[in-house]
Amino acid sequence: MAKILENSLREWFQAFEDPVRRQRIWDLGLLTGLRERKGSDPAPANFERGLILDRLIEVRRPKRILEIGTGRGLGCLSMAAACRAHGAPAEIFTVDITPRDRKIRWALELKGEKKVVHASRDEIWQAHIDPELLQPVHQLTGTSVQVLSKLARDNERFDLIFIDAGHDLFSVVYDLCYSARLLNEGGMILMDDFAPMEDFGIGTCMVVSHARRWFNAVEIIESENVIYGPATATPRGMVALSELRAPRPSVDNLRMLWWRLAGFVVRACESEKLFPLRG
Ligand SMILES: C[S@@+](CC[C@H](N)C(=O)[O-])C[C@H]1O[C@@H](n2cnc3c(N)ncnc32)[C@H](O)[C@@H]1O
Repeated sequence: MAKILENSLREWFQAFEDPVRRQRIWDLGLLTGLRERKGSDPAPANFERGLILDRLIEVRRPKRILEIGTGRGLGCLSMAAACRAHGAPAEIFTVDITPRDRKIRWALELKGEKKVVHASRDEIWQAHIDPELLQPVHQLTGTSVQVLSKLARDNERFDLIFIDAGHDLFSVVYDLCYSARLLNEGGMILMDDFAPMEDFGIGTCMVVSHARRWFNAVEIIESENVIYGPATATPRGMVALSELRAPRPSVDNLRMLWWRLAGFVVRACESEKLFPLRG
C-alpha cells in the first residue's frame, strides 16, 4: 500500500502563509505564467506549481533537477529562484519540443500593464530575468521521447523530476516510466495536471494507479488556483511520488507501443459523438 508522505506537502500547502515566497512566485508568474482568456485580461494560470516546487527545493535540496516541459519557464525559474533563496544550489535541466528561440504568443504583465507579445523564451528571459537565475538552467530541445531516452542511455540521474509536458495518455506514461528510470535513489517525481474532471487530466489520473505500485509514497495535492486564483470550478492538482520501490527500473519499449495505441483510442473516446447516450 502506498503511504502518505511524512513531510506532507499537502498539509504544508493547505496551511500556506508565507508572503515572501508568495511574492517570489507571483513576480515570475506575471512574466512567464499568465494565460490569455477570451474577452478579458490574461490571468494567472496555476502559479501554485511554483510554490510547490519552491517548497521541494527547500526541504529536499536536490542537486540535479529535470523538468519535462519548459513552457515559458515558470517551473524552472521558480526552482532557480528557490535554489538561491534557500541556499541550495542545483543544476536544472529543462526539456521542451519548442526551441528556445522560437517566437510564441506570450501573455505577460510589465509595469502593471497586461499585454500579449510575440517573443521567444530567450528574448523574454534575457530582457527580464536576473542573469544569475538563468545560470544553472540548461535548456534541452526535442520531444520527451527523444530527450529522455538519450538521458537514460547517457546514464544521467536526477534528484527531482517535474513532469509537465504532453498531457495525453501516451506522453504521461512515457514521461513517468523514463523519469522512474532517471531518478536517483531517494529522489522525487512531481506530476502536474491531476484533473479527474477534465479530458486533459486522463493521462495523469490513469497513470497514478500504476505509480502506486511503483512508489511507496504517493501524495495528491489539490493546488491549482487555490492561492493566486482565479478559482477553478473543478479540482485540479499535482501528484508527488517518492520512495521508488525498485531503483533504476528498465523501460520495456515493446510494451510502450501498446500505450501509443491506447493513447489514440483514449483520444478518440473523448469525442462527444462516440459517447453511447442518445436523447
Ligand atoms: C504546460 S507547459 C509547461 C509549463 C512549465 N512546466 C511551467 O511550469 O511553466 C507544457 C510544455 O510542454 C511542451 N511539450 C508538449 N509535449 C511535449 C513533448 N512530447 N515533448 C517535449 N515537450 C513537450 C509544450 O511545448 C509546452 O511548452
